[in-house]
Amino acid sequence: MRILAIESSCDENSAAVLADGAVCSLVTVTQKVHQAWGGVVPELAGRSHLELQDNVVAQALSRAGIGLDGIQLIAATCGPGLVGSLLVGYYFGAAVAAARNLPFVPVHHMEAHLWSPELDRTEPLPLPMLVLLVSGGHTQLVHVRAFRDYGILGSTRDDALGEAYDKVGKLVGLEFPAGAQIDKLAATGNPNAVAFPVAMRDASLDFSYSGLKTAVANKVRLEPDWVSPDRLPGLLASFQSAAIQSALEKVALALQRNPVKSLAAAGGVAANSLLRTGLSHIAAEHRIPLAVPALKYCADNAAMVGYVAHKHSALQSSVESYSVRPRWPLSELGPASSSRH
Ligand code: KG4
Ligand code: ZN
Repeated sequence: MRILAIESSCDENSAAVLADGAVCSLVTVTQKVHQAWGGVVPELAGRSHLELQDNVVAQALSRAGIGLDGIQLIAATCGPGLVGSLLVGYYFGAAVAAARNLPFVPVHHMEAHLWSPELDRTEPLPLPMLVLLVSGGHTQLVHVRAFRDYGILGSTRDDALGEAYDKVGKLVGLEFPAGAQIDKLAATGNPNAVAFPVAMRDASLDFSYSGLKTAVANKVRLEPDWVSPDRLPGLLASFQSAAIQSALEKVALALQRNPVKSLAAAGGVAANSLLRTGLSHIAAEHRIPLAVPALKYCADNAAMVGYVAHKHSALQSSVESYSVRPRWPLSELGPASSSRH
């Protein structure tokens, strides 16, 4: 089954071609228009997707060495995300599918992240699996029993982990999004420079990051010298240490309570070096494999969208017919049923 997949839920426009679940091509363009605003501006994102969509799809097809004639199914993200952005990719895909009389599969963005650790692997990951989903908009611990059989063990009560990175980045004058820059700068700083509190050291599996962000804001307000070039790495290393430590403690707690056969992380923050190292230690202690996606599959991308459509098609499961759904909790996804769509 050859699939053309499209992702346009936020500020990345991406298209991919997959053949039987293997990625043949992936083209991802990150919109630059938001940098001046310190965050994604929804109206600008939608317009930029309109300008990019045609060309990004054409490039993905050309790099895969096929034309639309070679495509058998089209998939696109239908939520959650920014409505104006979702509409562009979704209706581009749906229109091409209708014109060519091809099946169209709408995909949940977080379900796509959830399975991204399996991309480019020769064997499926052993189930059940615990997945730490960490992006700019979501922070969740998901117990994956099977495709479409998910238990949400914990979620953030306020900011997402990536959001905390971006807000702290803004506080210290870094460009949006700041996660990768903080990761790099923190590597050169002393993580004990400032004693930031590790949040949510309780029995729940929920997360909280707004208190840590406020602690960083207060530190910078009272002692502005922390943003000077020689002290900034220490401040950021201390923030990162507290932020990642709290995520790792929740993963360890979830593993104690839910024995699993594999551990995975997905979403933009799964690119974080400290998180990856910490997770690898936890997985080794539990003697289970750790799967983290290649960097190109951590950030928003269409390969993960096509992969979920591939799973549907391999199971011959019926697919819900949706328009875009800007708000759509992962917990609302129903079980895969085996009737043909
Ligand atoms: O999954 P993603 O591309 O978009 C959403 O669906 O939100 O995640 C983007 C988030 C941003 O908050 C960005 O700052 C963060 O991922 N991020 C990182 C790193 N690379 C990207 N955070 C920490 N460390 C990184 N290396
Ligand atoms: Zn995402």
